[in-house]
Amino acid sequence: MSKNWRPATQLVHGGTTRSQHGETSEAIFLTQGFVYDTSEAAEARFKGETEGFIYARYGSPTNDMFEKRMCMLEGAEDARATASGMAAVTAAILCQLKAGDHIVAARALFGSCRWVVETLAPKYGIECTLVDGRDLANWEKAIQKNTKVFFLESPTNPTLEVIDIAGVAKLANQIGAKVVVDNVFATPLFQKPLELGAHIVVYSATKHIDGQGRCLGGVVLSDKDWINEHLHDYFRHTGPAMSPFNAWTLLKGIETLPLRVKQQTENARRVADFLAEQPQIAKVIYPGRADHPQADIIAKQMTGGSTLVAFELKGGKDAAFALQNALQIARISNNLGDSKSLITHPATTTHKNLTDEARDELGISAGTVRFSAGIEDSDDIVEDFARALKAVKA
Ligand SMILES: Cc1ncc(COP(=O)(O)O)c(C=O)c1O
Repeated sequence: MSKNWRPATQLVHGGTTRSQHGETSEAIFLTQGFVYDTSEAAEARFKGETEGFIYARYGSPTNDMFEKRMCMLEGAEDARATASGMAAVTAAILCQLKAGDHIVAARALFGSCRWVVETLAPKYGIECTLVDGRDLANWEKAIQKNTKVFFLESPTNPTLEVIDIAGVAKLANQIGAKVVVDNVFATPLFQKPLELGAHIVVYSATKHIDGQGRCLGGVVLSDKDWINEHLHDYFRHTGPAMSPFNAWTLLKGIETLPLRVKQQTENARRVADFLAEQPQIAKVIYPGRADHPQADIIAKQMTGGSTLVAFELKGGKDAAFALQNALQIARISNNLGDSKSLITHPATTTHKNLTDEARDELGISAGTVRFSAGIEDSDDIVEDFARALKAVKA
């Protein structure tokens, strides 16, 4: 296996271990436990004197292949595959903090991520300050003596705000804090948080990594020292491990990630450009368009656009619902990153639990819609939007 392989090659071959049968496709090891030939062998395995698996909650062969492949892609030394993206986020944050510590997090977070830092962490004595992450001065102002973790996603869900990851990492390094980046929206192909100075990367593998709407999954990636010091024991003893079946499905999904994301990005770009010209649309936000408010940071830290488009209809909720109901290709769903185009109205779904004030701060209005491009033919998707927009008053 060459470390110099480009992503498309790594994602087909990286991390593969073959059994004695020499199978072409990765095998699925659906086992809870492992047996030892002798008592001495079991003792040696538990003492860490011999390599090998002990129990599937700790690690198992199919999960190991998935973790190794993700490490190659991300440029990380080590990883742990988790049962869902939220298990990855929660583990990455809680495993390294204790009562009395402080988190600074960007306020534009996926709803459950925001709940973890804003509601769950304080129950255990971990304080959190939420900031408008677009301005580095806000991160700096929020730093306290006990700040240990900075947490952000970029681009954000659903309004595709972008945060200067290298800038946040520089501030964190000055105080010895760790930066955790939820890289779901960027995908591992378009943004490399570890290269930008972040310390820990998390994914919901449920999204582009599976990409075909089947399995929940997540992954936490970092350097070996951080994983050994913080995540290793937390992971073993609290049990957020991914099912080997899901690891196998995700291993097969990830083989086609570059092909899917390329087509999805092209489809999203075409939809963004089309919508920007339509009289019913007040605003289009698309990383990759020159009119994105943070185009300069995107040019600095991302190598591709996005598979998602956020836009606002002038006619508010009625117009958003009319458009969604009239579309025939994009299905109404709060999921994203799928090979099927999906569309959602964040104010009444993914972000309904926020207060009106919090939604206003994030730029989520009654007319905001989030489109996740699938891999269908671009012409069909654009034609479907053109037809559906006829149901919406200008
Ligand atoms: C940005 C982001 N982070 C985390 C998650 C959580 O992932 P999962 O649903 O796999 O737990 C999601 C989506 O659900 C998401 O959009």
